[in-house]
Amino acid sequence: MKALRVESVSDDLSGTRLVEIPQPARGADDVLVQVKAASLNYPDLLMTRGKYQFKPDVPFTSGLELAGEVIEAPAESGFAVGDRVMGGNKTGAFAEIASIPARGLSHIPDGIDYAPAAALGAAYSTAFTGLIELCDLQPGQWVLVHGASGGVGLAAIDLAKSMGARVIATTGVEAKRAQIQSLYKPDAVILAEGRFREQVQEITGGALCDIVFDPVGGDVFDESTRCVAFAGKLVVVGFTSGRIADVATNIPLIKGFSIVGLRAGEYARRFPERGAAINAAIADLSNNGRIKPAIDRVLPLSAWREGFEAMANRELVGKVVFEPGK
Ligand SMILES: NC(=O)c1ccc[n+]([C@@H]2O[C@H](COP(=O)([O-])OP(=O)(O)OC[C@H]3O[C@@H](n4cnc5c(N)ncnc54)[C@H](OP(=O)(O)O)[C@@H]3O)[C@@H](O)[C@H]2O)c1
Repeated sequence: MKALRVESVSDDLSGTRLVEIPQPARGADDVLVQVKAASLNYPDLLMTRGKYQFKPDVPFTSGLELAGEVIEAPAESGFAVGDRVMGGNKTGAFAEIASIPARGLSHIPDGIDYAPAAALGAAYSTAFTGLIELCDLQPGQWVLVHGASGGVGLAAIDLAKSMGARVIATTGVEAKRAQIQSLYKPDAVILAEGRFREQVQEITGGALCDIVFDPVGGDVFDESTRCVAFAGKLVVVGFTSGRIADVATNIPLIKGFSIVGLRAGEYARRFPERGAAINAAIADLSNNGRIKPAIDRVLPLSAWREGFEAMANRELVGKVVFEPGK
């Protein structure tokens, strides 16, 4: 079968290749899935560079998220041959067939195609865990979402708007502002450059933001400490800027806000009942048409490099979905 293998880690994808390998044997508690669609997440890119917190031994098959059809399943797994499933593991999704632990899969809600199903899971569970599970987002609250053109950023905007919150989205790329605005109609889209607190203050009528959701880090995080309201929450989601910010602990004390560390996947693994409840809530919102993932492009897996490079070069507004069977 075809699989995208990371044979050695490198900053320029030179150690990553689409190759023919034997179909994986099904692991003891695993389900074997014919992959119909698999979406690219930032950790996939970081893993090709050896820069993600999880560092699998090389060679490994890339891809943490998929949607597909069950071709083999243990009786006690809750899945049967022919079931449409979504989910994944930390690796293995960018291949024609994947062996995935049953606990990492759920049924695709009726009426959702494979490509949006592959784009729904990781981004929306990250956004849901950060905004709703850990920060108890309420209607009417102000949410500042950074990295707004990314998979996770757009999911956070979509979810927050669907919950009746007010959203200020930020991007570092002027040309993306109109696209972000047209997708989910946030209350404002601003440039996350330099000092943006004054804009946040003006837009919120002086209130500042109850929740700041930050996948970017670095300078954007530093400025965010000036944008969060008293008793608000600043959620550390990731570091796409490449810099992990330092914060003096007197700042959250004096301003009375909390810094919340988010690890959505680990949260669901440690608290499986909460993970299942989060997945069910996302499926419900999706079934009711209240959320819908934004897909920038769907590519055959043979065009994997285009997708990875577009993410690395910050060209995307929404998710990249690969179709291994095409
Ligand atoms: N904590 C968790 O549980 C969890 C789970 C999943 C993902 N994550 C993290 O969330 C982050 C986003 O993941 P994703 O899959 O949404 O990635 P993505 O689709 O590539 O989006 C990342 C966004 O970050 C911004 N960005 C990229 N490079 C940047 C740079 N050099 N400087 C400033 N901003 C930059 C871009 O937004 P603009 O161009 O609009 O500025 C980009 O669209 C990653 O750090 C990932 O590791 C965390």
